[in-house]
Amino acid sequence: MIPDDIVEEVRARADIVEVVGEFVSLKKAGREFKANCPFHEERTPSFHVVPEKGFYKCFGCDKSGDVFSFVMERMGMDFIEAVKHVAGRAGVEVPQVGRRAEQEDPNRIFHEVNGFARDWFRAQLLDEKAGAGARTYLDSRGIDEQIAKRFGLGFAPDEWRTLREAAASHGLDEKTMLEAGLIKNKEGNGESYDRFRGRIIFPIDAVSGKVIAFGGRVLGQGSKKAPKYLNSPETPVYHKGHNLYGLSGAKHAIRREESALVVEGYMDVVSLAAHEFDNVVAPLGTSVTPEQAKLLSRYCKRVIILFDADPAGLKATFRAGDVFLAAGLHPAVVTLPPDEDPDTIVRTAGAEVLRGHVDDAVDVLDRKLQILDEKDYFSTIERTRSAVDRLLPTLRSVTDAALRDIYISKVSDYTGVRRETLEVEIQSGSLEPRFTKRESRAQLSSGFRPGTQGRGAERLILKLMLSGKEWVERAVARISAKTFDDPYNRAIFQRLVEKPETVVPSPDWEFLVRQRFNKILADQEPFSRGINEDFEKSVNRMLASVLDQEMEGLQQQIAVAPNDEKARLLTELNKLSGELRDLDPTLWMAATRGIASKTSTN
Ligand code: GTP
Ligand code: MN
Repeated sequence: MIPDDIVEEVRARADIVEVVGEFVSLKKAGREFKANCPFHEERTPSFHVVPEKGFYKCFGCDKSGDVFSFVMERMGMDFIEAVKHVAGRAGVEVPQVGRRAEQEDPNRIFHEVNGFARDWFRAQLLDEKAGAGARTYLDSRGIDEQIAKRFGLGFAPDEWRTLREAAASHGLDEKTMLEAGLIKNKEGNGESYDRFRGRIIFPIDAVSGKVIAFGGRVLGQGSKKAPKYLNSPETPVYHKGHNLYGLSGAKHAIRREESALVVEGYMDVVSLAAHEFDNVVAPLGTSVTPEQAKLLSRYCKRVIILFDADPAGLKATFRAGDVFLAAGLHPAVVTLPPDEDPDTIVRTAGAEVLRGHVDDAVDVLDRKLQILDEKDYFSTIERTRSAVDRLLPTLRSVTDAALRDIYISKVSDYTGVRRETLEVEIQSGSLEPRFTKRESRAQLSSGFRPGTQGRGAERLILKLMLSGKEWVERAVARISAKTFDDPYNRAIFQRLVEKPETVVPSPDWEFLVRQRFNKILADQEPFSRGINEDFEKSVNRMLASVLDQEMEGLQQQIAVAPNDEKARLLTELNKLSGELRDLDPTLWMAATRGIASKTSTN
């Protein structure tokens, strides 16, 4: 049991938009949010979330409730589990109750160690003496106490083992400190020492607000021996490519403003926040990854890329642009004056000047076209040809159907290459014809069996495989890529077998494969209770469909075979027929009736 007052506190502090937003992509509509209902199949959104009242309601299927019932329904949790899940996101401590509750979060120890380190770094920054230099530095960069507090900024003194010692006397285990990347092992058998020394500390939060890693900046310029920035390594709780700096604090503003500003680094995020830009995030020292793009797409559709204007920044801009497009986002690009970054602009020219640049953001494809034009790419036929090559990756990346259409028209207008030709180029070097043998057979043998039968089965198997690696293993044990009739489903199966942890389509996949993948991902219908049975049925149906096709081939051979050969083929057909009967009696009946009618008319 959880005491009622705690339940009420969790309810009061919970952000229902955030909790629900982890499962469906909510769009702001006045004071409410709307989405396609996660509980039933629909094309126009009738699922409403009302943050002020803390409830949701679907006008299509009539499901409604509060933040707890949503989590119970969507995640299959019981009430206590749901309260805990929500409490974790709302930052409310739920006292341990009963035995079951003691099942430990295996990462709890990391959260404890990281929480301790954040508090300790923070205390160093606030310490009268130890933090003086760091406070002066932050001040020189226009970061006041209030902003420093908002981002939990701290300071690691320029000492070898102060954090390690503080953690030890706090009773924290050295091994965990090592695994969390806060201390490093000395080569040989010397004592391990603090990773961050003499640096401003930027705690990195997960979206939930839990601190999972740290970035550290030297107070001066940085050098070969002391690089300007240093980051936590990958740990069990931190994968840099799966997180965005600033998102936990910026997510509400991003939803409110329906857009996110993406900058290069920590300092830009913090400095812009000091100038009242609250919807700012940064990738964590890598180029933007598909997972980061997917994460951002939970909160908004429009992203504004604000990278440095140098050639490296421009390259990163277009790479990020394609990754955002692949995640279904709509990226625009801000072009900053040379040698400036967002931080220097707000501090020297002011927030209004940066606002002006942001307002001038140009759609990512338009920006590409502008640059190609500036470089005189459209002056000759050969150069136009190579411009098309440079534009193709962007055309291949875009998944949003309407945007794709606009992009293709635009490139067609600009280059004079016909739409149809562009379509071919976009698809080139990839998949087989649209209609497969099995499908066309089904269409030819009218009434024999519905052409789309089996597609639902293929989709269900892929959806399961996407829901967890154990399903990938189960599927691989029963079927192979060839079992899939649809070429796009087959391609997705192959990708999942190669890389079971895939959660987002990679931008280098072919457009239609990515589109199919996103469609499967977007299917929010929960699995039914009889999912194991459904899995078996679907596998059987697909295997049956393969058998059915083989039987069709045999029948055609039998029709033209000489008599002695006929007997052997008929035995073979009988064997397949037996297998089909076991797998799928209904299809077997249809198939054998087909044989009967054919043999009687022949
Ligand atoms: P300031 O010099 O503090 O204004 O930083 P900045 O945000 O302008 O940084 P810069 O443009 O130099 O780098 C952008 C981002 O790249 C940083 O936030 C870091 O994530 C990363 N970065 C920059 N320098 C280093 C480095 O020396 N090491 C590592 N690991 N990352 C770096
Ligand atoms: Mn800078």
